[in-house]
Amino acid sequence: MNEDRVPAQYSEMDLSKAKEFDQKVKKNFMPAIRSTVRQIVEDYGPLRGIGVDVGCGTAVFAIELCKHSDLKIYALEKAKPIYEVARMNIEKEGLKERIIPVLGDANKIPFEDEFADFVISRGAYHCWEDKPKVLKEIYRILKKGGIALVGGGFGRYVNDNELERMRKLRDRSLGEAAKVYSSPGAFQEPLEKAGIRDFRLIRERAGLWTEIRK
Ligand SMILES: C[S@@+](CC[C@H](N)C(=O)[O-])C[C@H]1O[C@@H](n2cnc3c(N)ncnc32)[C@H](O)[C@@H]1O
Repeated sequence: MNEDRVPAQYSEMDLSKAKEFDQKVKKNFMPAIRSTVRQIVEDYGPLRGIGVDVGCGTAVFAIELCKHSDLKIYALEKAKPIYEVARMNIEKEGLKERIIPVLGDANKIPFEDEFADFVISRGAYHCWEDKPKVLKEIYRILKKGGIALVGGGFGRYVNDNELERMRKLRDRSLGEAAKVYSSPGAFQEPLEKAGIRDFRLIRERAGLWTEIRK
């Protein structure tokens, strides 16, 4: 198993494809991003300290989370062209002091133990070939008292029409891989393998998450 591989869908993008990907996220998935951030702030806020977004894509989510929290966010992305677009987005929003784009791999997160107060990973779980390994990494960088949220929800504030539309788009784009976001076992088993005990599966109308506490 090559645990360093990012699905071709992302790793084979050049800069112009990464810009297209960014435009599609902004055009199609903003309701989910806003709804999920609202939910996170409501459930875990006020959020402050250090945040890490694992598999941040073009940082659209990290930007929204930053605007609704006091977190300093390290936005980790493995695909270079996508990371470049994340950097541009952060700069355009004037958030360079608050969001630090980091080129790196979730299998070997480039931060020390107990670095983060809050870790989010949304919509990247399906990419990880060695899920227990990445989950262990997330747990390792979490501070005692910290919380990590890993999954693929659309947030509880999306309406039924938006949910239906975005779910269809996501499933079309991910194909079989989308199934993990509706399969509790796809989280439960890797979490157990990773030796993480303090977790809770959150099954909602608009998605599936695991909440990890340390
Ligand atoms: C569907 S996008 C989700 C982006 C963002 N989290 C969001 O909610 O819009 C998944 C991202 O995870 C990244 N990714 C996949 N495997 C990774 C890894 N091992 N390390 C870091 N990033 C990874 C991909 O390159 C892609 O940009």
